[in-house]
Amino acid sequence: MKQTKTLFSGIKPTGIPHLGNYLGALKNWVELQTSYQGIYSVVDYHAITIAIEPKILKQNTIITAKILLALGINPDIATLFVQSQVPEHTELAWIFNCLVPVAEMERMTQYKDKAKTHKQNVNMGLFDYPALMAADILLYQAQAVPVGEDQLQHLELTRLIARKFNQRYGQFFIEPQALITPAKKIMSLQNPDKKMSKELGEANYISLLDEPNIVIKKVARAVTDMGPQENKMSPGVKNLFDLLDYLEQKETYQNLQKEYKQGKLKYSDLKTAVSDAINQTLKPIQNNYNNISDQAVKTILKIGAEKAREIASKNLIEIKKLVGFI
Ligand code: TRP
Repeated sequence: MKQTKTLFSGIKPTGIPHLGNYLGALKNWVELQTSYQGIYSVVDYHAITIAIEPKILKQNTIITAKILLALGINPDIATLFVQSQVPEHTELAWIFNCLVPVAEMERMTQYKDKAKTHKQNVNMGLFDYPALMAADILLYQAQAVPVGEDQLQHLELTRLIARKFNQRYGQFFIEPQALITPAKKIMSLQNPDKKMSKELGEANYISLLDEPNIVIKKVARAVTDMGPQENKMSPGVKNLFDLLDYLEQKETYQNLQKEYKQGKLKYSDLKTAVSDAINQTLKPIQNNYNNISDQAVKTILKIGAEKAREIASKNLIEIKKLVGFI
């Protein structure tokens, strides 16, 4: 059955996603594709706001799309495409550039953070990123946008842009709603007070393509206790329990929790349970991944871009009429 509500989300091609990306966001994308008309994009125009080698960008784009397919994004019911193959995104972003006040852009915390960490390359694209993101979403008249909390500010700006456009040119855009992923935050294995992220280094995260023995090793080395914690579960141990919970190991979770409360829990048992659960989850994903050829991915993406363009170009024609282009 064709779903009537449209959902859009984007992922930057930064290489192999990690377990935190999967449990915190991508798993939700797969689930949502049955209740919405899902449009999912590998947003490569966003990726070049940070300097990246062309060869690496190409590789990362294919890897990211392949992972999405391996996780269960179904190109027969959802649309999966690469942003740069649908030129309407950047066209609409220009129109939005001429609506959005510089002062609003200057408030964006992601920009401020990135400008600090990439001092040598504070380019206009990095600053303008939220206008392109607004174009991604509004181009498809998406009602729902699954994002993490870090993207809420961008989504609020998207809603502001929609309102400004409607005020100036007449009602066209719907203000999209954020679908916040139920708080499933996976922390780093080595720094359990920080979110799992590739920037922290190999030992801190589980890549979705990590082999079973690597998973076992990384989990075995995960930080558990970090000095005395007055009667409180330490963040590292809590993270391991959270992983069991999110990986739907209800029974094991309860048993080990009981042992923990009785002061009998051996962390090595907890770690074995966690790495077993992770490997069990990753196995089918990795099998799927290895069974998709790069060529097959490219074909799926091409068809996806055609499907996306059908909607995008129709909407952009209307938008351009409203703006006064002849
Ligand atoms: N900015 C998002 C991120 O960093 C990626 C993104 C780009 C996106 N365009 C989007 C997310 C549109 C949702 C909708 O994660």
